[in-house]
Amino acid sequence: MKFFIDTANLDQIREAQNLGVLDGVTTNPSLMAKEGITGRNNILKHYVDICNIVDGDVSAEVIATDYEGMIKEGEELAELHPQIVVKVPMIKEGIKAIKYFSDRGIKTNCTLVFSAGQALLAAKAGATYVSPFIGRLDDISTDGLNLISEIRLIYDNYGFETQILAASVRHTMHVIECAKLGSDVMTGPLSSIEGLLNHPLTDIGLAKFLADYKKGN
Ligand code: E4P
Repeated sequence: MKFFIDTANLDQIREAQNLGVLDGVTTNPSLMAKEGITGRNNILKHYVDICNIVDGDVSAEVIATDYEGMIKEGEELAELHPQIVVKVPMIKEGIKAIKYFSDRGIKTNCTLVFSAGQALLAAKAGATYVSPFIGRLDDISTDGLNLISEIRLIYDNYGFETQILAASVRHTMHVIECAKLGSDVMTGPLSSIEGLLNHPLTDIGLAKFLADYKKGN
């Protein structure tokens, strides 16, 4: 299972990268705005800065919602760096754009996916990644993890190569459940990755080992 971090914060990206388990980064316009990155040139530079920190795929989202606009913007993003994955919203024009990029070997991440039908369409169009937003489904009393199992079943039935990227992950249990369900990737905050470290018995056990060592030395 690949671990992506869902942030545009360079310090957090560095911290996750230094842990040695990071496979990529996802961003979105809200995450860029949260870091105060505004203006086209600054945004493009920030994507390159992120690519220079991590080894894996970095999703950069198009702002245009019309086909021509998405193609123009996506091609510009893809030319920025070989690690860039063009993030395209799950709308009709977006599906056409994903097909266009896929035919030309440009990697894509179909974002804002909330149903199995949408995920099926994204795979048919040749998306590299599909991003079901599980946390936002949970927020409206709908089982986000169930969507992961539905998509896994459909993709396995037909051998679709589109990778399931569980997005809007909020906490460690989302990560663990997504791993159990066979999600190819998860993207979440640094806390959802670092939280996997925690167990009180580990802390108690380590303290005892160190105390016993000190008694004899
Ligand atoms: C996915 O790529 C999105 O950036 C993200 O996971 C959205 O998460 P949120 O629902 O926590 O905003």
